Amino acid sequence: MLILGIESSCDETGIALYDTALGAGTPAAGLLAHALHSQVRMHQDYGGVVPELASRDHIRRLLPLTRVVLKEAGKTLAEIDAVAYTRGPGLAGALLVGAAAGSALAMALGIPAIGVHHLEGHLLSPLLAADPPAFPFVALLVSGGHTQLMRVEGVGRYELLGETVDDAAGEAFDKSAKLLGLSYPGGPALSKLAQEGQVGRYKLPRPMLGSADLNFSFSGLKTAVLTVVRKDGLEDTAHTQARADLARAVEEAITDVLTAKSISALQQTGLKRLVVAGGVSANHRLRSRLDAAAAKLDARVYYPELALCTDNGAMIAYAGACRLQLQAAAGGFEAGPYRFDIKPRWDLNSTAIGA
Ligand code: KG4
Ligand code: ZN
Repeated sequence: MLILGIESSCDETGIALYDTALGAGTPAAGLLAHALHSQVRMHQDYGGVVPELASRDHIRRLLPLTRVVLKEAGKTLAEIDAVAYTRGPGLAGALLVGAAAGSALAMALGIPAIGVHHLEGHLLSPLLAADPPAFPFVALLVSGGHTQLMRVEGVGRYELLGETVDDAAGEAFDKSAKLLGLSYPGGPALSKLAQEGQVGRYKLPRPMLGSADLNFSFSGLKTAVLTVVRKDGLEDTAHTQARADLARAVEEAITDVLTAKSISALQQTGLKRLVVAGGVSANHRLRSRLDAAAAKLDARVYYPELALCTDNGAMIAYAGACRLQLQAAAGGFEAGPYRFDIKPRWDLNSTAIGA
């Protein structure tokens, strides 16, 4: 089965082609081609994503990118067997572009269209790495909008272990970065600044670190960062070292909590595999902290390829492929009717099989 994947939930247009036959042994082998257009430069002047601009840009990019991917894979539209698009969660207008284009394409070709959960895409993206994890595993999902720990038994078999009660980890990076006057998206910029920083100058809170549950809280961090920025006048870029030290402190605080809770999740479930996905999984400090802590438990951490950490079409094509294969095994699926809806807010647990 050849699947076209379309991601358009936020500020990246991602398109990919996935071949389930080629991916039958190692999932990565099924990824024929993928292409991405990032809108970061367009939104940078505004300090964050402008939803209307995002939607309009997805419209402009979607079909040209599809042509690029088809050409790279040496395939034609007529060879596609199904279209997978991101149904949610995300920006309503942006989601509508991918859902409408994907459904229209599927209708024109007389093939099925499937709406994919964006977080399921992230969750399964480490399976597209060269050395993928086996099920079951604990998954730490850390993106701009979500921070969750899940127990994953298989595709569509998820159990929520804990989640943030307020801001997401990526949001904490982004908001702290903004307070330091760094450009959007803040995570990578703050992480770069932190490389020059020393630990020890600033001590930031680690809310819920000691709580017995597997929940997170990051909203207190931005208040603490704001207080330091104001007190030491760190908006002024002349304070080069102090700014780097604060960035380092923010990164330490966030990665400390993510590491501790992920390790608790491994201990509580008795599992030895931890999968980390979503934009923040690109963070090098988080990776080295998790690797070191897991090694002490004889556990291993799996990450997506760096290019597949942030939003992309490959994870949507792959998640769509997994869901279609499950449906095929359960008796097949129909090409129509070509109705679609989007789910700007959508709980991943509600998509669990049997939920
Ligand atoms: O998964 P993603 O691309 O989009 C969402 O689904 O939200 O995640 C984006 C988030 C942003 O908050 C961004 O700042 C953060 O991931 N991020 C990082 C890094 N790269 C991306 N945060 C920390 N360090 C990074 N290297
Ligand atoms: Zn995402």
